[in-house]
Amino acid sequence: MKLFHSPRIEPFLAKIDNRRLREIQRRYAGSSDRYAKYADVEHWLKINLPRVQELKLDRSPPKQILDLGCGAGFFLFLAKQFGHQCLGLDVGDFLLSNELIELFGLERVTGRIRAFQPLPDFGRKFDLITAFSAAFNRSEDESRGWNPEEWNFFLDDVDRYLRLGGQILLEINSGKEKRYFPAEVRDVLLKRGARVDGERVYFRS
Ligand SMILES: C[S@@+](CC[C@H](N)C(=O)[O-])C[C@H]1O[C@@H](n2cnc3c(N)ncnc32)[C@H](O)[C@@H]1O
Repeated sequence: MKLFHSPRIEPFLAKIDNRRLREIQRRYAGSSDRYAKYADVEHWLKINLPRVQELKLDRSPPKQILDLGCGAGFFLFLAKQFGHQCLGLDVGDFLLSNELIELFGLERVTGRIRAFQPLPDFGRKFDLITAFSAAFNRSEDESRGWNPEEWNFFLDDVDRYLRLGGQILLEINSGKEKRYFPAEVRDVLLKRGARVDGERVYFRS
């Protein structure tokens, strides 16, 4: 017996230009491209729908949402269907992600989050700032995760874009032996008032 009402994914798929999607999928079938897996749009929308529900975006008034490392934009595409204003940030290096962002009709800022460098000027503030499977919190050579100082700089900067009463949810990919999310960083986040649950970091302003 299902305890929760789980919306079907088909109505969301129906909002997508299917001819264009099938053409994209044909080109990426069997591709060894790093993010070729994202061509399976149905699968990734199914993964992202619970994220939208958990944040109550399926039943809240319109919000301004910023998704850091938005990838192909599955989360934002779904959030947009519920009436939210969505903006993504990603590096723009991956053709498939770029194509899906365009297919979904999403607004995206192209840029790379770097340690001790301010985020691009988004020109507006947000009610919700998210990052899923985030990989930006690593040194350039990916040998280590950000240290407490790098995290503090980033979070101070992110705060500039958060509206009063806004929320931040970061799902950090902690890597092998938590190398990208060590205990000292967890402590810093807790000190800043975060709720930390495994790899999930949650702030309310
Ligand atoms: C594993 S994918 C997750 C994509 C998306 N958040 C999702 O859950 O489907 C990680 C994403 O982070 C982006 N990314 C990695 N490092 C980044 C950085 N320094 N600045 C911005 N985006 C970054 C990648 O381009 C990629 O799209």
